[in-house]
Parts: sequence; structure tokens; C-alpha cells
Amino acid sequence: MSNHSSLSGRVAVVTGASAGIGKAIALDLASKGAGIILNARRTDRIEELARQINDQYGPFKGNPRAICVTGDASEDSVIDQMLQAGNDHFGSPADIVVANAGRGLDGSVMTSDTDQWESMLKTNILGVAKMIRKAGTELLELQKNRDWTNHPTDIVILGSTVGRHISPFSSMYGSTKFAVNSLAEAARRELGPSGIRVSLIEPAIVKSEFQEVAGYDPDGFGKIMDKFGPVLVPEDIARSIGFIVSQPANVHICDIVVRPTRQDYP
Ligand SMILES: NC(=O)c1ccc[n+]([C@@H]2O[C@H](COP(=O)([O-])OP(=O)(O)OC[C@H]3O[C@@H](n4cnc5c(N)ncnc54)[C@H](OP(=O)(O)O)[C@@H]3O)[C@@H](O)[C@H]2O)c1
Repeated sequence: MSNHSSLSGRVAVVTGASAGIGKAIALDLASKGAGIILNARRTDRIEELARQINDQYGPFKGNPRAICVTGDASEDSVIDQMLQAGNDHFGSPADIVVANAGRGLDGSVMTSDTDQWESMLKTNILGVAKMIRKAGTELLELQKNRDWTNHPTDIVILGSTVGRHISPFSSMYGSTKFAVNSLAEAARRELGPSGIRVSLIEPAIVKSEFQEVAGYDPDGFGKIMDKFGPVLVPEDIARSIGFIVSQPANVHICDIVVRPTRQDYP
């Protein structure tokens, strides 16, 4: 069995790569040798990141190492483009798929802004479920005709500690991460026997654009930062994902919870 300590030759799709955790994941996977397909809705941001990766890490199989697929990661056509881009651009299908695109929402089922429920559920649950289905289908086909022990394949899903414990301040958002938690474990059971790893990463508080998009009150969040800080930065999460996907094909780290040391709950 070969030692896959580096990601050389592998191709990764990263959704939500224009900021925060997704951007850090893309940079980390590129630094380990992968070709990267970047997705987000803000074209300028991912194009800038693609330039940075291409300058910093050089070509991949004679092509630019990073390419962009702009659009909503919960749209079928965008998911199809992301999964097709590996073959089209690198001549290799994606064998690492990171379902990271997501958003938060301040408040509970009683207090959060109901106007935002539908779009949050679409991105956080439907988008992830569609990606698991489509990527899982492609990876099953890929693993069918080869010795899977020499070919690790990964679907990595961003859950949250609030998808494991009820959040006191964002339980409506947390419910989407409870859904993702069960989707990841169900998909792991279904795809694992064919040599496809489905892993869940559950971060606690990470400082990113997330807090502003979710509509957290800056004063309240400041108090949480004081209580639990220093909180995590996106690179802290990217490191764990890089570790998971770099394991030999027969080793599966299924679930990692990452908290700032002083965060007791959730
Ligand atoms: N920050 C935390 O404390 C924390 C904790 C636990 C879990 N998480 C999870 O980690 C993931 C990343 O969060 P983050 O902290 O990096 O947040 P962030 O800084 O706000 O980044 C979110 C990323 O997702 C993209 N995105 C949002 N909706 C999208 C859609 N429909 N289609 C495509 N891209 C979309 C955004 O880009 P565009 O706006 O350009 O599309 C952006 O690149 C999320 O799933 C989040 O729930 C975050």
C-alpha cells in the first residue's frame, strides 16, 4: 500500500472558497500538491485566490493549479460544473470534495429572521445533500475499476459544534448542522464500503465573515470572544482537513471536533 502523505496528483473541489474556512482549505490543499477547483458566488474573490495559488504553488500537470467555478453551490448546474471541471481542466476527476459553503443565522426558531430560513436551508442542507449525492455517484464509478487501497477518495463536510449540541444563540442555524451531521454519517455508512471516506468537521467559534453574515450583534460577539478567546482562525480548521485527506486509503478519521481551548459549550 502506498503512503499518501502528500496530495500530489489529487484534485479537490472546495465550495465557499472566497473567504474564511474555505479559502484556508483551498490554500492548504494546494500547498500539499492538489489541483483545486474553487467555488463561491463572488467571482472576483475566487479569481484573486486562484491567482495567488497559481503564483505560490506553480502548475498542476502542466495546467494552472487552481480554477474557478462561480455560482451558488446548491444549484445542480453549478455542482455538475464543479465535478466536471477536474476532467475538463486537469484530465483527472476530483477525488477530494469539500462541502464547505454555508451561512449562519442569529437567533432561535422563535427569534431568528424567518425571511432567511429558506435560503439558509437551501445552502446548508440541500446544497450539501446534492453534493453528497452527485459526488458520491461519481466517486463510486471511479472506485469501481481500480484498487481503492491505492486511491483515497474523500467527501468532507463542514458541520459545527452547534450541530451536536443545542446552541444558546443560533439554534435555527444549528438545526441545519444537525441535519448535515446525520447526512455525513449516513453517507459514510453507505459509501465507506466502496472505499470512499465521508468525513465531518465540527468547528466551534472561528473568526471569519461568518459572524457578520449571520447577523450577530458585534457587542455580544465581542463578549463571547473575551470569554472563550483566543478563538479559532480558518487555518486551524484547514489543518484538520489536510490531515484527514492525507491519510492512507484504508484509514478514515471520520469526525473531528475543533474548539478554542477555553470554549466550554456548545
Ligand atoms: N465561523 C464559524 O464559527 C463556523 C463554525 C462552525 C462551522 N462553520 C461552517 O464553516 C463553513 C464556512 O464558514 P466560514 O466561517 O468560512 O464563513 P464565511 O467566512 O462567511 O465564508 C462562507 C463562504 O461560503 C460561501 N457561500 C455562502 N453561501 C454560498 C452559496 N450558496 N454558494 C456558494 N458559496 C457560498 C461564501 O462566499 P460567497 O458569498 O462569495 O458565495 C464564503 O466563501 C460554513 O458551512 C459554516 O457553517 C463556521
